[in-house]
Amino acid sequence: MRFAEQVVLITGAGSGIGRATAGLFAAEGAQVVVLDIDGDRAAETAEALDGAVALTLDIRDLAAAATVVDQVLADFGRVDVLVNNAMRISAGELDERDDDADMLDELDVDLLGAFRMTRVCLPAMRRQRRGAIVNVASVNGLGYFGNDVYSAAKAGLVSLTRSVAARHGRDGVRCNAVAPGTIATPTWTERAELEPGFLERMGSYYPLGRVGRPEEVAEAIAFLASDQASWITGVTLPVDGGLMTGQVVMARDLTAGGA
Ligand SMILES: NC(=O)c1ccc[n+]([C@@H]2O[C@H](COP(=O)([O-])OP(=O)(O)OC[C@H]3O[C@@H](n4cnc5c(N)ncnc54)[C@H](O)[C@@H]3O)[C@@H](O)[C@H]2O)c1
Repeated sequence: MRFAEQVVLITGAGSGIGRATAGLFAAEGAQVVVLDIDGDRAAETAEALDGAVALTLDIRDLAAAATVVDQVLADFGRVDVLVNNAMRISAGELDERDDDADMLDELDVDLLGAFRMTRVCLPAMRRQRRGAIVNVASVNGLGYFGNDVYSAAKAGLVSLTRSVAARHGRDGVRCNAVAPGTIATPTWTERAELEPGFLERMGSYYPLGRVGRPEEVAEAIAFLASDQASWITGVTLPVDGGLMTGQVVMARDLTAGGA
């Protein structure tokens, strides 16, 4: 029970990795606050968990984020862990986008949303002289795997992780990130239903030979948020089946023929 009596806020916990993370924290004793722009999905996550509560929140709205944290402090008295997990992703690379609105919105959710949530949680964490923040970045923030606006936002999260860690370590606040590779969340399982073999094909690019499961990312998030990681701050941990180790397909090609 690593998180007994700890209050844990998770954005985007109405689906996928956020939902699995909510489940793990709840199983380890946390008071979980499930946050999502989709109130029904947030409620569905919370209903399946012991004592979890669901609140509707759009992380593009700083005032709404502040109100949610005020409510959490009034109800539970503290904020121990913040997991910045919510995201939206839209199709189209830079040269295929005709207007700014969609790009701005993607950055607003995927990057500035985490800035806002961090901003509104930090005062309580600093008062407590204890807090752990985990940002859910992506391998897209470390290298190019398509979706360049999303990737830029994720690279921004890696930078935010370092800034908060460096600036607030003396306040007792740690900040780390995970960088998942392809995880079998609804986005990809729904595509696999239309395109049989998709997940197996993606899995073949990974040294470990398969895509990841939401629960495997949740384990890494919980570790970084826990006291077991008490001397770790400012890092981005790939949770990627070895994808960032290098170009396996290229290496096979290079070394073919006995080189
Ligand atoms: N699934 C993958 O393969 C993968 C790979 C690398 C990184 N990630 C990252 O993991 C995290 C979770 O991904 P997922 O696949 O579980 O996502 P998902 O799409 O299943 O869930 C994202 C959730 O965020 C919520 N959300 C969207 N906009 C919001 C807003 N403005 N305010 C509050 N909530 C909002 C959605 O309603 C949804 O419930 C994301 O940060 C994503 O970038 C996922």
